[in-house]
Amino acid sequence: DKGIYPYYMLKEVDEQPVVMHRLMERYFDEQGNVLIGKAILDEINAADRVYIIAAGTSYHAGLAGARLFEQWANKPTSVYISSEFAYEQPLLSEKPFFIFLSQSGETADSREVLQNINEAGYHSLTLTNVEKSTLWREATYALPLLAGPEIAVASTKAYVAQVTLESILAYALADNQDLNLMEELSNIAVAIQAIVDDKETFKNVADAMLVPASTHSAFYIGRGVDSTVALEAALKLKEISYVQAEGFAAGELKHGTLALIEEGTPVMALITQPKTAGLVRGNLSETTARGAHPYTIVSKSLAKEGDGYILPDVDPLLAPLVEVIPTQLLAYYTSLGRGLDVDRPRNLAKSVTVQ
Ligand code: M6R
Repeated sequence: DKGIYPYYMLKEVDEQPVVMHRLMERYFDEQGNVLIGKAILDEINAADRVYIIAAGTSYHAGLAGARLFEQWANKPTSVYISSEFAYEQPLLSEKPFFIFLSQSGETADSREVLQNINEAGYHSLTLTNVEKSTLWREATYALPLLAGPEIAVASTKAYVAQVTLESILAYALADNQDLNLMEELSNIAVAIQAIVDDKETFKNVADAMLVPASTHSAFYIGRGVDSTVALEAALKLKEISYVQAEGFAAGELKHGTLALIEEGTPVMALITQPKTAGLVRGNLSETTARGAHPYTIVSKSLAKEGDGYILPDVDPLLAPLVEVIPTQLLAYYTSLGRGLDVDRPRNLAKSVTVQ
């Protein structure tokens, strides 16, 4: 039931802080120790490489999660689009372990991969929102995302649940737990609440930059993990507002895409990584010099006068959890402003059960 909401998507965006709390209650004890079965952790520990397999938004959650596995847990991790892995399997490491990410647990492309790796005798873990779904049943292990039913075709809370659960897994595998993850995730839930309470801001930005019929294309740029959120932000905008959008690593602009920048082209820069903040700003100014209409979404400690939206500071690898929210709201208000059916975009299905 949508309740007071005009569309499920907005309801699901608003539910994200609650989803995070649900995950924390399930996966931490009161002291902040992780509650994940020893068998799962032992298998990942014993593996020499983790392969994350997913599609669409779940793939983008995998790209963010891989950084957590590598940088926190020191575990080599590769992320693959399931429809690609299914028919062009890379050379596998000696002791691979597979993690499937899927909101629905029914995505045909991912099921095809799971079937193949089951036949080869490899072990796997599915993180899914739908218990008893095919990917849940057929993997060696499964953990629930606890996001509650996601009805809108555009996936929002499942992404946040996936990145949160990946962070908990990576933390459990890490030798060095300097960060208090439970505390950090609680702070992030508070930060997300503040962003979703600020809807008017994003409606105004969308109305000014993305809703006008003269806007045919838009770009999201970022470096490091922000470049993966740029992919997700662009996908969300494309699928529900039909604006041609591209997300990519900011340093790539000058290698070709800069040619597409025209007077008024919206370019949204995601800036949460201290190491590269200055470089992203440099890349952004290359676009404004060619007439782009810039908008920055920036962590507080990296913010400068004239920035668009200021996010609270969080651990840089967890920044996707907060920076993705403004991009979800920008997509929502663009779709709404263009008079489209936000929840049911043309040509798309919620669960993609064909290859
Ligand atoms: O159910 P899954 O997470 O396996 O679905 C994967 C994609 O089909 C899905 O994330 C899709 O990209 C969304 N519509 C994006 O909002």
